[in-house]
Amino acid sequence: MTNIKEHWKKKGYVDEPVPSNINIEKEILRMCDEKNAIILSHYYTEKSLQKIAHFVGDSLALARQAQKTKADIIVMVGVHFMGETNKILCPDKKVLIPDMNASCSLAESCPADKFAAFKKAHPNHTVVSYVNTTAAVKALTDIAVTSANACEIIESLPQDEKIIFGPDKNLGAYINAKTGRNMLLWDGACVVHERFSVEKIIELKQQYPNAKVLAHPECKGQILKLADVIGSTAALLKYTMKSNEKVFIIATESGIIFEMEKNSPDKKFIPVPPETTEGVGCHCNECAYMRLNTMEKLYNCLKYEWPEIIIDQQTIDAAVRPIDKMLNISEKLGL
Ligand code: 13P
Ligand code: SF4
Repeated sequence: MTNIKEHWKKKGYVDEPVPSNINIEKEILRMCDEKNAIILSHYYTEKSLQKIAHFVGDSLALARQAQKTKADIIVMVGVHFMGETNKILCPDKKVLIPDMNASCSLAESCPADKFAAFKKAHPNHTVVSYVNTTAAVKALTDIAVTSANACEIIESLPQDEKIIFGPDKNLGAYINAKTGRNMLLWDGACVVHERFSVEKIIELKQQYPNAKVLAHPECKGQILKLADVIGSTAALLKYTMKSNEKVFIIATESGIIFEMEKNSPDKKFIPVPPETTEGVGCHCNECAYMRLNTMEKLYNCLKYEWPEIIIDQQTIDAAVRPIDKMLNISEKLGL
């Protein structure tokens, strides 16, 4: 490996400057045609990336899209666990992500060795994991879920089944409350959704009395209590499109507002501010990991077909089972 490749490897992305005389969007799409590559993006990435992607969706839709694509290369503009999910579902395809450092606080909160010890300490439990986990944690899991299907999948299990749920304690508590289960919860949380301010939602509700509060289930219980609608990013988006209301207070990553505004230009979307902006600047309702993705990194990633998600076969074989189970149950339930 040359020195420059070592340099990129350390950085986790290619930081070669993009030539100033090219049209970067056109060049990205040309490379996609030439290489039979598809760009998948999560709703939490910046607008320009959502605009150029061939498909934009929530984590469930992204997994389904990866599963059915005929492309040879999948570029996952999102976070690392989403790239891993694509690779697990499509082991024969090349899966790229523009920046290897695009992690997720939930996935980070749940190291596989510690999760294995937790599982061992609680035998005879079914292990259900949120899709926001590493491939190694999925390999320890019986059924994966996303925020779009978690309650329904848990409800499909026998009432007396003992369940371990990780890594999001807020989503876990929400599912427990909604389904009347008593799942054992891993102590993880999302840095973005944990920070939304209860006081600021109350102030916004006073200012906009007819507004609907929409929240992702990764938010704390106090926020969910104030919400009119709780759902995955796709479910919240769908609600804004169907609703006759004109103002929405959004308690999830603000990237989703791009798609909401695009579909409902006559409606107003107000992102909920975080409790404090101290030490974290003013973009606190943006996921810092998702925002590591840039157009330049996407260009270089396609050009050099790097960074690539590599997972060993043993982990793929173990991790595909909970994802397949999730996709099959979701399909049966019509989700
Ligand atoms: P969705 O499953 O709603 O796409 O959420 C993924 C995520 O990372 C939320 O923070
Ligand atoms: Fe992970 Fe939270 Fe970012 Fe979603 S918003 S990718 S859960 S850190």
